[in-house]
Amino acid sequence: MRYEAEGFPPLALLEMATGYWVSQAVYVAAKLGIADLLGKEPRSCQELARDTGTDPDSLYRLMRALVSLGVFTAEEGDRFGLTPAGQCLQSHTIGSMRAMILTLGEEHYQAWAHLLHSVSTGKPAFDHVYQTTLFQYLAKNAAAGRTFDQAMANVTVPASFAIARAYPFSSSSTVVDVGGGQGALLRAILTANPELNGILFDVPPVIEEAKKLINTDGLAGRCATIAGDMFKWVPRGADVYILKNVIHDWDDDRSAKILGKCQRAMARNGKVLVVESVMAPYDGLSFEKLLDLNMLVISGGRERSEVEYRALFDKASLRLTKILPTPFPLSVIEGVRKECS
Ligand SMILES: C[S@@+](CC[C@H](N)C(=O)[O-])C[C@H]1O[C@@H](n2cnc3c(N)ncnc32)[C@H](O)[C@@H]1O
Repeated sequence: MRYEAEGFPPLALLEMATGYWVSQAVYVAAKLGIADLLGKEPRSCQELARDTGTDPDSLYRLMRALVSLGVFTAEEGDRFGLTPAGQCLQSHTIGSMRAMILTLGEEHYQAWAHLLHSVSTGKPAFDHVYQTTLFQYLAKNAAAGRTFDQAMANVTVPASFAIARAYPFSSSSTVVDVGGGQGALLRAILTANPELNGILFDVPPVIEEAKKLINTDGLAGRCATIAGDMFKWVPRGADVYILKNVIHDWDDDRSAKILGKCQRAMARNGKVLVVESVMAPYDGLSFEKLLDLNMLVISGGRERSEVEYRALFDKASLRLTKILPTPFPLSVIEGVRKECS
């Protein structure tokens, strides 16, 4: 943010209130695939408008605004190029955030327009807008579902090797990634630990897509893919159950139910690893506080503090044994069965 609330209160507040101008400008550029079109060399607005079927003057105004935000560069001859941030708008590049920007600009944005509903009722605005829950919607709408899964991979890929390094997986034999999406984290853990076997567990449409990626990585021999409903069961007998950005999707009762399924399914000295942000007890600007609101709006979940994770684990007959930080705003929170020492 450019304006500090203490120094320029009216401008700081106005900047907050117009934040959606920025997010929608970035979203429209992502939707039109502008960064992919600029992949090789700067291009004129006329060319971009022709290739995207848009109005040249309006597209020019969008591009000019995004130059001012540092997404594109203005080059000689009325041409535009990519900044490093603009490169992350490309579809197939290291650090791509395109799918995440699409899902944020579409379903999330529609739901956030009804934040007031969530704050008034305590219920997800998403359900109010779409008349169904987030994960039922994604299961029924294949294109939105695929974009959401890629969006999760956008944010999971960069953190995956740091998570794989943060925890000593080498002393385990089988890891189940519950709600593992496209398997970005499990693939990194298996790549970093050649002796380890993995099971990717998620709902059927997600598993169908994930299988292709696991085959491409050459991990199929060590990684099974199983479709199912984690509220009913999870694969039995493994020694590690990892859940990244799964528990924050749900309220305490639903979260305890998922953790309870893992606790009952795991081997005798098994571990449950929850990978989430741990909410810090301070009031400064923090991404987690806004992510927490997003969870309320989208699925009725929440971000939690260490104390809240201890209580949640207790509800699932687990004992929180350690919290291992990573360089990302994600920690590995380990739990064992209560009766284990
Ligand atoms: C926020 S995403 C996290 C994906 C992945 N762990 C990551 O961090 O990239 C939540 C995942 O939970 C899965 N999920 C939702 N409901 C489920 C259910 N009932 N059983 C199994 N998986 C479920 C979704 O399909 C999705 O892949």
